[in-house]
Amino acid sequence: MIENKKVSPARRHFLKVTTGIVAAGVTASLLPAQASAKGFKLDQHRHRHDKKRWKKVQKEFVLDKKTTYMNIGTTGSMPKSVLDNYQKNNLSVAKNPWDMQNKFGSWPYVTEMTESIAPGFGANANEIILSRNTTDGMCSILNGLHFEDGDVILTTHHEHVAAHSPLHVLAARYGVEVIYLDIPVDSGDNSITEQQFVDLFALAANQYAGRVRLITFSHITYKTGTRLPAKRICQEVAIPNQIPTLIDGAHSIGMLDLDFHDIDCDFYAGSGHKWQCGPGATGILFVRDGATRLDQYWSDRENPLWFINSSLGHADYLGTQLQLQYIGNDNYPAKQALTDACEMWDEIGRDTIEARVLALSKYCKQQLKTAFPSAAIYSPDIDQLASAITSFNPFDDVNDLVMLTEFRDRLREQTGFIIRTTDFKIQQSDAVDTHALRISTHLFHDHDDVNDLINAMQHVFYGMS
Ligand SMILES: Cc1ncc(COP(=O)(O)O)c(C=O)c1O
Repeated sequence: MIENKKVSPARRHFLKVTTGIVAAGVTASLLPAQASAKGFKLDQHRHRHDKKRWKKVQKEFVLDKKTTYMNIGTTGSMPKSVLDNYQKNNLSVAKNPWDMQNKFGSWPYVTEMTESIAPGFGANANEIILSRNTTDGMCSILNGLHFEDGDVILTTHHEHVAAHSPLHVLAARYGVEVIYLDIPVDSGDNSITEQQFVDLFALAANQYAGRVRLITFSHITYKTGTRLPAKRICQEVAIPNQIPTLIDGAHSIGMLDLDFHDIDCDFYAGSGHKWQCGPGATGILFVRDGATRLDQYWSDRENPLWFINSSLGHADYLGTQLQLQYIGNDNYPAKQALTDACEMWDEIGRDTIEARVLALSKYCKQQLKTAFPSAAIYSPDIDQLASAITSFNPFDDVNDLVMLTEFRDRLREQTGFIIRTTDFKIQQSDAVDTHALRISTHLFHDHDDVNDLINAMQHVFYGMS
């Protein structure tokens, strides 16, 4: 898939440590219960082998050993080899600002980067824009689309401000009606289904037929870590109704093995600095096929997409990708570091990473259930709807933010585990917010970290009871 590519120094270094991790071996906790003696031995051998390999991956990260960082949902951490190359490239740019020692090819300096990144996401190179972050991608598209008074946008009640804020502007500026659909929130019994999400969007598309100009939603919500059935919403609701889709992929890039063509969305905006572990202020924006489907869906509007923050908005002959990409002089070392991180993920195998982090998160949810039997777990433990984010609240009063904040702070101060809190309404009509602790499990964690976290949380919890 990524043959004949230039191998970056960061990747070359990493190849030495990771060769040989296999997807089948990552789910160490899933050994078959009744394996034959020979099969069991083989599994045990593979398990030991993979444990060793993952330890090497863990060692690639420079995270402070005095703490255990489990807030990747806010931002990730660059692997050492990526960081080293980033520092070298920063030095090159500082020494030679004019030609940057030709480190990044010719203008616009990101061509080789997008060529390297795109296959890992099931995209063509000319569909990938290296943005500043998810917010930047979301705002570029939402503020760029030519909305008019009376248009409808369908979204959910669990979106981030990266969507909320530009949606608010669109409502105030153009009179767009934003419909916030009440998406189902699991209450710990794993009873929600993919179909509920699809039905919800389908019903609304039908109710506002002819007026819906966009469907936008988080692939994984930051509040509960619920993974929405993105492909089904696109293929079963949006496309048949000729509605373009913009997906907030802040948490899926670097966590899941994504294929943008397969999902069949029109726009996908994600972070490079969270689960992909690139540097700050890096992101990936996918624009399907130069946004040509938009011309078809919005044929009544002459120019459906404006390049509102581009230096090349007037230069149509350059094409959508370059127009969206070029926003003036850029931080090329940061974009190269994101590329290096992506190459590392490709090398380990994005399917392997997805299996690993989802297995860790599943383990975390199951251990939480045992340790805190009456806790509310808002992240579904259902394969199609699960992510590597676990949101839960161990206290009886799930509306008490003061108590939960104290728990989070004590956990950090007393045990070194760093997690965060989120707040949400289970139903939009709720009078008060529900609060949850949010745990992110990633490549640099293992089952022991999860066990230690649960023990630490029990210790703090009983200390507060
Ligand atoms: C769902 C969601 N969207 C967007 C963002 C914003 O991400 P960024 O900082 O990359 O703009 C976040 C950040 O936490 C998020 O959780």
